[in-house]
Amino acid sequence: MLETEFCGLKLKNPTVLASGILGTNAALLKRVVREGAGAVTMKSIGPREKLGHPNPTVIEWEHGLINAVGLPSPGYQNIESEFAELKNCSAPIIASIYGASVEEFETVAEAVAEYKPAIIEINISCPNTKKEGQIFGMSPEMATDVVSAVVAKTGKIPVMPKLTPQAPKIADIAVACEKAGANAICAVNTLGPGMLIDIEARKPILANKFGGVSGPAIKPIAVRCVYQIYRAVSIPILGMGGINSGKDAVEMMMAGASAVGIGTATHYRGIEAFKLIADEIKQWMKEHEVKSVKDLVGAAHD
Ligand SMILES: Cc1cc2nc3c(=O)[nH]c(=O)nc-3n(C[C@H](O)[C@H](O)[C@H](O)COP(=O)(O)O)c2cc1C
Repeated sequence: MLETEFCGLKLKNPTVLASGILGTNAALLKRVVREGAGAVTMKSIGPREKLGHPNPTVIEWEHGLINAVGLPSPGYQNIESEFAELKNCSAPIIASIYGASVEEFETVAEAVAEYKPAIIEINISCPNTKKEGQIFGMSPEMATDVVSAVVAKTGKIPVMPKLTPQAPKIADIAVACEKAGANAICAVNTLGPGMLIDIEARKPILANKFGGVSGPAIKPIAVRCVYQIYRAVSIPILGMGGINSGKDAVEMMMAGASAVGIGTATHYRGIEAFKLIADEIKQWMKEHEVKSVKDLVGAAHD
C-alpha cells in the first residue's frame, strides 16, 4: 500500500530523510533506514572541508526551528569511507552537493558521481560568490547554469535540484531546471533569513544572527511551492517543509509531491518519525479507501 516509486527508484514508503538532519554520518543514515525511512539524504557535500558557524546554530521556537549551521562539510575529498560504509544500505541514498560557483558544483558533482548514489541532489539555495552572493536558486539563468553543468558530469545518475522558497516565481526556476536536464525537483529548503532575539540579553540568539526557518511555520509556503511546481513541470517532486504527521504528508502529496522529506519532525517525534508518519499515512489511506500513494499525488489539482 505504501510502496511507491520516485525517479525510477523503488521506495518501501514515501518518507525520505531531508538533508542535514541526522544524515551527518553513515551510521546515522543506516539507523534512519532501520527506523523506516524510504530513502535517506546525506548532509550536503561541499568543495572543501568546512567547520560551519559557531554555536548556537540550531534554536527551537514555538513553530519550528531556526538554524545557521553554515553547511559544515568534510569536503568531497574526504567522503570515500562514508560511501563505502553505505554500500549495502537497504534504501536508496541521495547525495546532496553544494558549491559557491558553477565550477565548484561541477567539481563536487564529478567526485560524488564516482560513488554512484541513487540521486544527486543539488542544493541551489546557496550564494554564488561570483555574482555578489546572489542565491543560485533565485534566478532561472543561474539555476540553468548549475543544473546543466552538473548533468554533464553525472552520467546516468538522476539529478535533483533543491529549490529555495524565497524564489519570487518558484515554478519558473523548476521549469528552467527541467529544461536543463533535471530528473526531479526537491522543494523546499529552509525559508529565511529569519532572526530571533533574546529580549533579556538584548542580543540575537544565533551566533550567525540570521538563519533558515524550518518546521510547521513553513508548511503552508512549502505546500504552495509544490503545488505551483507540479503544475509547471512533468518530473517528480520530493516535497518537504514542515511535515510533522501523516496528514501533513498526505497534504504535500495532494499538492503534487511523489515523496515527502522529513527533517524538523525528527526533532519533535524522534528518529521514529519515519515509521510513525508512514503508519499515519497508511491509516489515513485505509480510512479513505485509497489503495496506492500514487493516487494521492496531485489529487488537489483540478
Ligand atoms: C539543522 C538543519 C540543517 C540543514 N542542513 C541542510 C543541508 O546541509 N543541505 C540542504 O540542502 N538542506 C539542509 N537543511 C534543510 C532541510 O533539508 C529541509 O529542506 C528544511 O529543513 C525543510 O524541511 P523540514 O521543515 O521538514 O525540516 C537543513 C535544515 C536544518 C533544520
